[in-house]
Amino acid sequence: MMSKTKIVLAVTGSVAAYKSAEIARRLMDESLSVHVAMTANAEKFITPLTFAALTGNHVLRHGYPAPGDDPMPHITFQRGASLILIAPATANIIGKLANGIADDMLSSMLMASDAPVLVAPAMNANMYNHPSVRKNIETLKQLGAGFIGPATGELACGETGEGKMERVENIVSQVLDRLDLGRDLLGRKILVTAGGAREPIDPVRFIGNRSSGKMGVAIAQAAARRGADVTLVAGAMEIPVPEDIETIYAPTALEMMRTVQERFTDSDVLVMAAAVGDYRARSVASGKIKEKESWDLSLVRNPDIIAKMCALRNKQIVVGFAAETDNAEKSGREKLLRKNMDMIVVNDVSRDDIGFGSDYNEVVIITRSGETIKPQKMSKREIGEIILDRIAGMLTGGYGDRGLVGGRT
Ligand SMILES: Cc1cc2nc3c(=O)[nH]c(=O)nc-3n(C[C@H](O)[C@H](O)[C@H](O)COP(=O)(O)O)c2cc1C
Repeated sequence: MMSKTKIVLAVTGSVAAYKSAEIARRLMDESLSVHVAMTANAEKFITPLTFAALTGNHVLRHGYPAPGDDPMPHITFQRGASLILIAPATANIIGKLANGIADDMLSSMLMASDAPVLVAPAMNANMYNHPSVRKNIETLKQLGAGFIGPATGELACGETGEGKMERVENIVSQVLDRLDLGRDLLGRKILVTAGGAREPIDPVRFIGNRSSGKMGVAIAQAAARRGADVTLVAGAMEIPVPEDIETIYAPTALEMMRTVQERFTDSDVLVMAAAVGDYRARSVASGKIKEKESWDLSLVRNPDIIAKMCALRNKQIVVGFAAETDNAEKSGREKLLRKNMDMIVVNDVSRDDIGFGSDYNEVVIITRSGETIKPQKMSKREIGEIILDRIAGMLTGGYGDRGLVGGRT
């Protein structure tokens, strides 16, 4: 496994420090190794234990090292870091960094580093607008530091104005932009479907399935991080959709079919991670069906979206998912060939430690060229990265899987 990119998250004494835990979490979700440094005042707002537990890494704290500890933590802590993010950044730390003051462990660590620095200020609007704070910010910008925010809004002090720490999502996405981690899907148009079905029976009832949307969202996020222009077509979702990805809701198979078809011609890749309903009610009642002892529901087959798209395509790479309970690998391979996909990701949904609703999955990935990849059980986002590695390879012709495309009838 590739070694992870290291980033240092420097946390200083602002109420917004509680949001740093979320920043750490989100950065780890992006497969980064997060190392937190805190000022003494930051520890008044959030504990080092929170960060140590979240990141699994040692937290750099104020004070001199005890005998036996690393004697030079301000030099060694940030070694190898690709970036230092100061979030939240107080007026104080901005002033210290701009003026070469290193009077505690965190500011000494900053001074001893040559890694790029991103600063996310958080403070009262008057503090932020104070001429000396502005001057320090200008100095830091001239020295090459990047600034994220602040935003304008209601501040912790009850006032409204400029000085609120930028939203966590924006901070994380700016960090990722700055890191420029392998953007091998830059400019590629990727359509990802995610989530389960909601086929209505009447205005209150529906036929659904247990797909949570986690796998599709993980793929959409990873693809966006790798530079792709992503559209998420969301069925019934149990998790929030990412705010920074264009999302179209399509909870029924017919809506999903229409939405996917509209965008398919323009796309380079279609990843169908949604569990589209196989059947829908033959007729949908306009009023709520009254309670009765029993009644028969008549179902009709929904269109097979992936098979239709495979028949329509010219350049597109099409990736399907199969949720199987028996003979998972064999059934998946048959499905790949029958529907003419480039790749199929098969998961065994008979296991309850993985699959539906879980953050983890254990899949078998089969490509057209006959390659079978069986990664161990891992997080859905890591599986997403493996799938995208293969897609990126296919897009550049690296895997030789594209031989038949275009030549097919
Ligand atoms: C409740 C409370 C909230 C504070 N919030 C902020 C803040 O958001 N931004 C800021 O620059 N200072 C804030 N301060 C003041 C800083 O904590 C203070 O300037 C401190 O010296 C900063 O230390 P540090 O930069 O070493 O963490 C706050 C103080 C208190 C008591």
